[in-house]
Amino acid sequence: MANIVVFGSQWGDEGKGKIVDMLAEKASAIVRFQGGNNAGHTLVVNGEQCILHLIPSGVLHAGKKCLIGNGVVLDPAVFCEELDALAKRGIDVSSERLMVSKKTHVIMPYHCAMDVARESAKSDGKKIGTTGRGIGPCYEDKMHRCGIRAGDFANKELLREKIEKALEEKNVLLKHLYGEDPIDAQAVYDKIEPYVDRLVPYLGDVSSAIQEANEKGGMVLFEGAQGTHLDIDHGTYPFVTSSNTVTANAASGSGCSPRALDRIVAIVKAYTTRVGGGPFASELFDENGDYMQRQGGEFGATTGRKRRCGWLDMVVLRESVRLNGPTELAITKLDVLSGLKELKICVAYKYNGKEILYPPQEQNGMAYVEPVYETLPGWDDDITGAQSWDDLPDNARDYLKRIEELSGVPVGLVSVGPDRAQTF
Ligand code: IMP
Repeated sequence: MANIVVFGSQWGDEGKGKIVDMLAEKASAIVRFQGGNNAGHTLVVNGEQCILHLIPSGVLHAGKKCLIGNGVVLDPAVFCEELDALAKRGIDVSSERLMVSKKTHVIMPYHCAMDVARESAKSDGKKIGTTGRGIGPCYEDKMHRCGIRAGDFANKELLREKIEKALEEKNVLLKHLYGEDPIDAQAVYDKIEPYVDRLVPYLGDVSSAIQEANEKGGMVLFEGAQGTHLDIDHGTYPFVTSSNTVTANAASGSGCSPRALDRIVAIVKAYTTRVGGGPFASELFDENGDYMQRQGGEFGATTGRKRRCGWLDMVVLRESVRLNGPTELAITKLDVLSGLKELKICVAYKYNGKEILYPPQEQNGMAYVEPVYETLPGWDDDITGAQSWDDLPDNARDYLKRIEELSGVPVGLVSVGPDRAQTF
């Protein structure tokens, strides 16, 4: 059965969790391949809300294997908290169905301290607005080749040694550069130790587990986190996250061949949002933006921050299509736009006196573009009960058709509300 990759085509928060949850029904395994608990996937099942930050959204489906790949950064405290919260709801979180790659890097308390210290030291306008979850510093250690991997938890002596070594350098920075108190290695070890024995039974070979699922004829679903324009290479650098969020990383972040990625689903919010700092060409500062923020309940699932809102940006989406190769689009939150008189779509940017169809590649170039809009009529009807294309008003269908034309990719799924059932 063809494997599926789901990715965010904008700046994250496109509603991936819900679509992953839906597609998970047919999967035999669901794997996360990048990011960490900076993500927040909000799911509503039978009217009950569940927010997951780390464990794949597919966990809500009984019997599915949930895998955390090598490309993820894992905070063991958050992992254990999520295990407990899910177990309380009666969900099976045994090591029979949940696996963490031995190669996954672990977020330590000093990564969070570095993340927060760095952000506080930046002046306004330079702040990235990170989630403060230690994501960047953990990936830095991975590249610096001094990171702690989940597999190291099986060797407490090695773990202790690595903590001590890491702190030699971090404490110099914390104390002398950021004016913070140094961190004691023993205190870090004591804080982490309760999670060590809990994590070890979950350690495994995710790469082999994917292969095995495929060999048995099962489908593997790759669950992306964040969005393409937060990608460390291709996003609006430096206002990005620290991992590759593009679909190519589904292969290297989990340990499979790129040839294993068959169907690629781009999650596209019907408008655009962004949390944290960084340029956002189609951002709105008027009543239309307030309307989207209110109707869409646009608050970050991880930090609770208000999300910035704006019109759908096809320049951003066109770049996502080029980078990720989607076979279809899943349009989410279309219902949020009901009630707006007119809808604008940003079709190009004016930049340095020219009209461009792709984002500029200079650092922060997007901060200097002027959006070029096309205007379409809105609709007033409540579409939250729509179950098919035919149930949508003409103007909503025209909006979707225009997205297909401008992106060159067919719309395969439409979501008109938070519940599993509000999708066709
Ligand atoms: P970090 O990933 O915590 O380092 O944050 C870097 C940037 O990515 C900040 O602007 C965050 O707001 C943003 N970010 C990280 N994770 C998410 C997410 O899941 N959704 C939306 N934005 C995110």
